[in-house]
Amino acid sequence: MKITSAEFVMSNSNVAKCPNEPLPEYAFIGRSNVGKSSLINMLVDRKGLAKTSGRPGKTQLINHFRINKNWFLVDLPGYGYARVSKKDKKTFQKYITEYFLKRKQLVSGFVLVDIRHDPQPVDLEFMEWLGVNQIPFAIVFTKADKLKPNLVEKQANAYLQKLLDGVWEEVPPHFITSSSQHMGREELLNYIGDINQE
Ligand code: GTP
Ligand code: MG
Repeated sequence: MKITSAEFVMSNSNVAKCPNEPLPEYAFIGRSNVGKSSLINMLVDRKGLAKTSGRPGKTQLINHFRINKNWFLVDLPGYGYARVSKKDKKTFQKYITEYFLKRKQLVSGFVLVDIRHDPQPVDLEFMEWLGVNQIPFAIVFTKADKLKPNLVEKQANAYLQKLLDGVWEEVPPHFITSSSQHMGREELLNYIGDINQE
């Protein structure tokens, strides 16, 4: 899929106030600092459209970006970051769970995980919660540039195998990406493009 336009629409802490256009949308979620905002910029090829930072906790609201004037990418706050105060963390959890439970336009979540790490309890719990609530999601492995090329596939397969060893009977769709290397861009955009056309 070709990106012809990408525009920031609004930031919000209330799912009821998100854009009311009936366009399909795709939301990026995962631990703080995993690379959600960077991945959005990489997909639309616009540095700085979504705000990124080396410090975890940068994205604190639900951010809507209208793509090609007919679908949305949504950048969400990270979960599971210890340095955010307890009160803020609770607020993040609330936006996130309300967003996923109430947002009718949501077509699929993308759960981002750092390819260097083994499955973390908070990610497994979140995926399980999505499953229980019948919310479709795909897994996006991020920061593949941080691993030696011969380890990338191996590490991703080991991660997926652990899902199968756990509660999952089949592995969700998955993508290997690096925002700094523009890796996985076509695959992800084509996946979204195919769903949009269904
Ligand atoms: P929060 O908004 O805080 O939840 O973080 P986030 O998940 O949006 O992460 P963000 O995109 O802000 O990136 C966090 C850090 O990881 C930044 O320093 C990015 O430059 C870096 N980063 C993101 N993607 C990649 C990648 O593919 N490769 C490398 N090497 N670094 C990356
Ligand atoms: Mg962010």
